[in-house]
Amino acid sequence: MGCRGVTATTRSVKGSIEVLGRPDGRPSQGDAVVHALPDPILVIDAADRIRYVNTAAEQFFALGRDALNQLSIQVLTAPDSPVVDLIGRVRLTGLSISDHDLELTSPRDETRRVDVHVGLLHEARGDVLVCLRKRTFADIISRQLTSRDSVRSVTAMAAVLAHEVRNPLAGIRGAAQLLERENQGDDRSLARLIRDEVDRICSLVENMEVFADERPIQIEPVNIHEVLNHVRRLVEAGSSETPLQFDERYDPSLPPVLGNRDQLVQALLNLINNSVEAFGSGGGEIILTTAYRHGMRATVPGSKSWLKLPLEVAIRDNGPGIPDEVRANLFDAFVTGKRGGTGLGLALVAKIVKDHGGVIEFESRPRRTEFRVRLPVAG
Ligand SMILES: Nc1ncnc2c1ncn2[C@@H]1O[C@H](COP(=O)(O)OP(=O)(O)O)[C@@H](O)[C@H]1O
Ligand SMILES: [Mg+2]
Repeated sequence: MGCRGVTATTRSVKGSIEVLGRPDGRPSQGDAVVHALPDPILVIDAADRIRYVNTAAEQFFALGRDALNQLSIQVLTAPDSPVVDLIGRVRLTGLSISDHDLELTSPRDETRRVDVHVGLLHEARGDVLVCLRKRTFADIISRQLTSRDSVRSVTAMAAVLAHEVRNPLAGIRGAAQLLERENQGDDRSLARLIRDEVDRICSLVENMEVFADERPIQIEPVNIHEVLNHVRRLVEAGSSETPLQFDERYDPSLPPVLGNRDQLVQALLNLINNSVEAFGSGGGEIILTTAYRHGMRATVPGSKSWLKLPLEVAIRDNGPGIPDEVRANLFDAFVTGKRGGTGLGLALVAKIVKDHGGVIEFESRPRRTEFRVRLPVAG
């Protein structure tokens, strides 16, 4: 169990359990808000029994609220779990305590890493509020890239492995291509299957190499419009069967962005390819927008300082929208809504944007999905 960075605050969370619903039994607005939160929330009483869970907690533990209600937190997370320990410390000290990167094992023996916040909800009754935050792949990656030598050696090993796997793959691909050419019928389609699957492994390996690359990126002033035009040409060449309409709304006075051209090409290509793949064979419209937004600032997790990120690149499509089931962890690796998808595209986009000191956000509903990347400018 990694127990690092314990922070305690003197602020205890007091007040009535308004979220438990109104006296007439109907859900209150507070209840609706708590159920809409993406992070699991539980209320534990003085006897360590669960008294309340929100929808995210039901999903997290894969148990309905009826099953969770009255269940002991010790049974749910094991008596020696770090969460039980935290609850005890909060009761003892009267302080709210947060702990990061804890390992939590569910009754189904699934182990996940979470950040945990525990606060007193009702001092007299001994009720405590437990908020869990799932650690995203981006968190894990950034930890891998910034700390712990042992992990660093694992990523280095991944890079070596990726490199070593390439040569035999190229051989297999070549052989499959030969077989494809020389055979007919079923044999030919089997050979094509081998080639397609090898291509899939190759792209996985390429992505792995980028993830494992810890070196600081080489940056220079880059003309983002030139990058967008290049990406547009690549996409059009690669999807000639899908009717695509591009609408470019560029701000011609935009200053260069400080970045790495190849990586920016990769990130924007992944975003636009996702739009194209979401359209299906019917095609659709993609609006590319660039803008200079004065006063646009953002904070990045782990840092208190504000970043000036005035340059905005937006990619909007009129496709079906992002499926609900992938939204919460959209930028995590291996999260995909497609058959045969790798789920690495957006994880890579997130890494590239982060390496550029930028931020990415999205909005999506049917017929309007937009990804906005904000970047620092050169100079
Ligand atoms: N523009 C978009 N419209 C609809 N869904 C999208 C869009 N972009 C991403 N998605 C959803 O997000 C998932 C993850 O995307 P990504 O990380 O690129 O992995 P992959 O494309 O391999 O599935 C996709 O499978 C898709 O369900
Ligand atoms: Mg993708």
